[in-house]
Amino acid sequence: MIQKDPDQLRLGILGCGPISQIAHFDAAKKARNVELHAICDLAEDLRERMALIHQPKKVYREYAEMLADPDIDAILIGVADQFHVPLALEAVKAGKSVLVEKPLGVTIEECLELRAAANARLLVVQIGSNRRFDPGIAFAAKFVREELGTPLSFKAWYWDSIYRYTMTDNLQPIPTQSASARRPEGNPKADKRRYFILTHASHLVDTTRLLGGPIAAVRARLLERFGAYCWWIDVEFEHGGLGHLDLTIPVRGDFEEGFQIHGEFGSVQGKVYLPWFHKSSVVECFSTKDRQYRRVIGEDAYTYKTQLEGFADCILKGSTQHGANVDDGIAALRALVAIARSVESGTWVNLAQTTGAV
Ligand SMILES: NC(=O)c1ccc[n+]([C@@H]2O[C@H](COP(=O)([O-])OP(=O)(O)OC[C@H]3O[C@@H](n4cnc5c(N)ncnc54)[C@H](O)[C@@H]3O)[C@@H](O)[C@H]2O)c1
Repeated sequence: MIQKDPDQLRLGILGCGPISQIAHFDAAKKARNVELHAICDLAEDLRERMALIHQPKKVYREYAEMLADPDIDAILIGVADQFHVPLALEAVKAGKSVLVEKPLGVTIEECLELRAAANARLLVVQIGSNRRFDPGIAFAAKFVREELGTPLSFKAWYWDSIYRYTMTDNLQPIPTQSASARRPEGNPKADKRRYFILTHASHLVDTTRLLGGPIAAVRARLLERFGAYCWWIDVEFEHGGLGHLDLTIPVRGDFEEGFQIHGEFGSVQGKVYLPWFHKSSVVECFSTKDRQYRRVIGEDAYTYKTQLEGFADCILKGSTQHGANVDDGIAALRALVAIARSVESGTWVNLAQTTGAV
């Protein structure tokens, strides 16, 4: 039985494509403090079908009309990466807070423009870096903050699996497609180097920043063999600790995101499952204080829902942000751009000097 709070964030969801169908509509209906107030898509077939299934109060074809609705508090943007910032900017200019799917945007400059617009209006902008809401990762983040002490080393990996679609096809409802869906010019998914960095490394880099700390510079190599792409990335953290990231797509093995962290007073290791299992990661934190490993269990691991609840709490109650904010989104994009530039140049790239797109 779904329990709802008396105060609910009235949410409008832009985009009735696969990510809204397999995550956001359901998450919005189950989130304790969210009302699925409206949905919007230019594609009539998708819009009508999703309205029938999910029963929002209102259905819009035109985004501008949804933004003009005074009953809507906030917008979730679930569309192609290339549209994120222009549409988030429109929302902010209409006075709405926004949860934007990851990555925040595709160029650093457009993201900076969004930050300026949101900050000027004191609006919340969060990014759909849902791993932050995985209970194991949240537990690790708290341990790192409160007990790890001075960081020494950080390793993280993100391996997509060659068997991923067998698993996800079994776990997700069959998404309804539409020939009239609005898509970016060309096919952004055709350039695999760029697409994998934007879509997969965005999670890896956000988890790294959350658990490892702010990234100062990266040096990355890319090996392409038998249809697999392996990014091998050295990381220099602002705190001086050492880091290494491995993004491999696809591995001939299971999907896995994971990390190992060593610090002055402890260590952390974690193994994160394919998010569609909605299963908490297995994270163990060792503290020299009690010489014991600690592991969290029993928390809600439906990250698409808890991410929305966190976003709503932030707007309704002014709670401290647990989700990725606009600064996190910009820093993550800087890291993605730096990885791409470093692969081309073979040299270290400072994040502070990054410009442009991946
Ligand atoms: N967090 C995660 O784990 C996760 C997983 C998968 C995808 N994603 C993200 O989701 C996004 C892609 O979502 P998708 O695959 O559903 O996209 P999609 O392009 O397939 O569908 C988007 C829908 O939005 C509609 N739309 C676009 N612009 C519009 C506008 N201006 N007005 C009205 N309707 C508009 C389109 O018609 C389309 O139906 C990407 O940013 C991706 O990174 C996140």
